[in-house]
Amino acid sequence: MTDLFKDKAKEFDGNDVALGLSQGIGSTLLNHLPLNDTMHVMDFGAGTGLLTAQIVPRVHQVTAVDVSPAMLTQLLSKHGLKDKVETVCQDITVTPLNRQFDVIVSAMAMHHIKDTDRMIKCLAEHLKPGGRVALADLDIEDASFHPAAIEGVHHSGFDRKQFASLLEKHGFHDIHFTTAHTVKKEDKHYPVFLVVAVWQ
Ligand SMILES: C[S@@+](CC[C@H](N)C(=O)[O-])C[C@H]1O[C@@H](n2cnc3c(N)ncnc32)[C@H](O)[C@@H]1O
Repeated sequence: MTDLFKDKAKEFDGNDVALGLSQGIGSTLLNHLPLNDTMHVMDFGAGTGLLTAQIVPRVHQVTAVDVSPAMLTQLLSKHGLKDKVETVCQDITVTPLNRQFDVIVSAMAMHHIKDTDRMIKCLAEHLKPGGRVALADLDIEDASFHPAAIEGVHHSGFDRKQFASLLEKHGFHDIHFTTAHTVKKEDKHYPVFLVVAVWQ
């Protein structure tokens, strides 16, 4: 599989948009998601670990899942993360882990996954009964957020109602959306949702 983040990984954490997103999503997520030191959390599409780093101090362990070896190399270079973070470089929507987690979090990764229905089914299959998801990504936008013709971007954001229907279809309930952050680029505003939901 081509690593679409190979050329971006080293500079990723220096990007103001990525940093603003991780701060906004991270603080909102920590306010809306009960976490404790017995929990094993999956960060789906963890990248360089900007969200993982905010969760690690509150939980037992984080499994950082990503398809980009370059992004996970950056994550593993962060000394504070090594002890409690396991990395998995695998497309779990194709090859599942056959393990269940207490919580699955994700920030700005879902628009890279073509089949959203299959992705949510996959996330449900990786949760313990009563487990939670906390998923953040762009609200529907006019396809101007990313540069034109960029490879690997399959969605121009998500419609909250349609996303909630998919979560319900795969056994989630207590589905709550909030706006976690708004990216401002030139004269445009791009809101980012965080949805928290309980499985079974
Ligand atoms: C925009 S970055 C976000 C990284 C990180 N979550 C953050 O908020 O900084 C998107 C990440 O999703 C990853 N990704 C793309 N497709 C994926 C897949 N099928 N499974 C897991 N991760 C994937 C990319 O490799 C990349 O690291």
